[in-house]
Amino acid sequence: MKLKPVTIRKQPALKASLARTFAGYSGSEKSFREMADKLRGAPVLDEAGKPKYHRTYTHADIRKIRMKLLNIPDASKTALPAIIPGRMTKGGTGKTTVMVNVAVCLAMLGHKVLVIDGDPQGSISAALGVDWTRSQITHISKLMEWQKKNVPFNIEDAVWPIYEGGMLDLIPADITMSDEGWMILAQQRERLFENLIEKQSEFFRRYDVVLVDCAPGSSLLSTTLMLGGSKILTVVNPEGQALMALDVLASTVAELIDVKPIGVHIVCNNVSTGKRPHLDCLNYLAEKYSTIVSGTVIKTAVGFLRDVKLDNIPENAPLMEREPTSPGAGDIRAVTNEIIKAFDIRLAGVSTDPMTAAVEEPVEVAA
Ligand SMILES: Nc1ncnc2c1ncn2[C@@H]1O[C@H](COP(=O)(O)OP(=O)(O)OP(=O)(O)O)[C@@H](O)[C@H]1O
Ligand SMILES: [Mg+2]
Repeated sequence: MKLKPVTIRKQPALKASLARTFAGYSGSEKSFREMADKLRGAPVLDEAGKPKYHRTYTHADIRKIRMKLLNIPDASKTALPAIIPGRMTKGGTGKTTVMVNVAVCLAMLGHKVLVIDGDPQGSISAALGVDWTRSQITHISKLMEWQKKNVPFNIEDAVWPIYEGGMLDLIPADITMSDEGWMILAQQRERLFENLIEKQSEFFRRYDVVLVDCAPGSSLLSTTLMLGGSKILTVVNPEGQALMALDVLASTVAELIDVKPIGVHIVCNNVSTGKRPHLDCLNYLAEKYSTIVSGTVIKTAVGFLRDVKLDNIPENAPLMEREPTSPGAGDIRAVTNEIIKAFDIRLAGVSTDPMTAAVEEPVEVAA
């Protein structure tokens, strides 16, 4: 059963100046608009029927433009996406904030993104405007259960489109996902998520990247979600308890080596670079986890506090979408670039890493 969001979200669109930088185009704004118009076909007209000067671009437009600039063929079928479980046993470090803003940033860079809410609190669902108290949801645990028990289902019925054109989709969660009874009895439960991806690979292949926001603490569900990819994303704060929790997570991952070898990528969030204790913590991270810690950090920014407002969930939108030129969004963009490299996130199956240099000259695009 699928119900659409109670309020259809207003679709965000990017102004030419922003679209140009996200598309990685260094020619003039005028030539960018001309090129984009050619790619889009018919020009966007104003009310008087004249070509509109102030055009806006959707995430799907940016995908098209980037693929053209990077000569990526428009393949309808791609490889399996990068699977990124976001995991940290300590609560409140900013996992959901980082995951949701990185997801938006990846879509702004033209990637097709699937977000899976792996937390029964439904925080990332709320951050994307889905209110589970007023909607019927099929969560990821139910999908894994049906897959395991060979119950016929269509995974697409669980998907809520957040951005047009499949650029950002969500499989939301609600509190019923905390019922893990069936999982206790399931054999090889650590493989449940991996099996779902394998069995539903045609669906998952539509996306370039899948981000899974897991609950804090430890649970059977978190463990199976964590083992769905080959590397997890963890978010820490520059303070003692969070760093201790990181050490615990690192040791859990090391112990799991016989089940599945998985890597870790660490992002440090809520940092005040002017605070001496914070700098000490960053030095500790750089020394102990030098090869797996993100080189850039996310600083404390009040804008993030407005990401999830529980009094009007359908109106919620992450900072990256609301204020894409704010300092907080700038930190997200830098961290996202590192995540693209660390998790080898591809654009329609093609690595953009060696091609990240902006294109100097406008390219010829057939009308
Ligand atoms: N960089 C930041 N600057 C300011 N506030 C932040 C920042 N990152 C997160 N926050 C705030 O910290 C609080 C906790 O963040 P969030 O819910 O993302 O953490 P979490 O790790 O997902 O929590 P949980 O463990 O409950 O899932 C939120 O109020 C969020 O707005
Ligand atoms: Mg959370």
